[in-house]
Amino acid sequence: MKRIVILTGAGMSVESGLATFRGGNGLWDNLPVEQIATPEGYRANPSLVLDFYNKRRRELLTVEPNDGHRLVASLEEKFSVTVVTQNVDDLHERAGSTHVIHLHGELMKACSSREPQNLDYVFTLPSADTDLKLGDLAADGSQLRPFIVWFGEAVPRMDDAIEALAGVDAFAIIGTSLNVYPAASLLSFVPRSIPVYLIDPNEVTVNSNRSIVAIRKGASEGMRVLIDEYLNKME
Ligand code: OAD
Repeated sequence: MKRIVILTGAGMSVESGLATFRGGNGLWDNLPVEQIATPEGYRANPSLVLDFYNKRRRELLTVEPNDGHRLVASLEEKFSVTVVTQNVDDLHERAGSTHVIHLHGELMKACSSREPQNLDYVFTLPSADTDLKLGDLAADGSQLRPFIVWFGEAVPRMDDAIEALAGVDAFAIIGTSLNVYPAASLLSFVPRSIPVYLIDPNEVTVNSNRSIVAIRKGASEGMRVLIDEYLNKME
């Protein structure tokens, strides 16, 4: 079976009704990112941060995967697929993808404030009550916090993402502005000999001189083109 790795970003979930982060009306265009998505912001005002992610979690429960997620999942019928996502939503999993690496954490999970990356303290919040409140404690006795990788924190799953590229036959990028590192540097680990596709309705500045097939469409339509015009012809 040929192997495909797909790197996704916020644009993947736009057709599901979730906002992006940049580009005019994104989350970080309207909210102070340093107060919400950094360890310093969390220390300064934990309830503001808990509240922001509580709202996003509740919103996530109201949306569904879109055709783009479903088409990515359907690739598993013919290919060995790893999805590397910057998204903290669980829409790839809900659409049926079985190998998903979340570089920036998972919204539906909570972790310890003292040791955010210690998986012993990470768990999925029950869908009946997904809010985190001040005073909710992790198993190590520290305040529970969202299992999100904030700016300035390590990205431990980057190693798994790089490993997934070994022996890959095609690499696709969907719906990311490639502004955030180290996620954006994944492309530099992709072997030069394999094709790279980029699905995005807008122009994306790629920090690489390798040749990339740009598919200037939204995630669903772009995935259809990728499958029909390229991947199905790869076998
Ligand atoms: P951005 O908001 O930076 O970029 C979203 C991309 O999606 C842009 O290139 C858009 O053109 C594209 N887009 C918009 N609509 C689309 C559609 N229908 N189909 C496909 N693409 C579409 O989001 P990311 O690159 O994902 O981290 O941001 C990276 C990280 O920055 C996020 O993971 C998040 C944020 O801070 C954390 O929260 C830790």
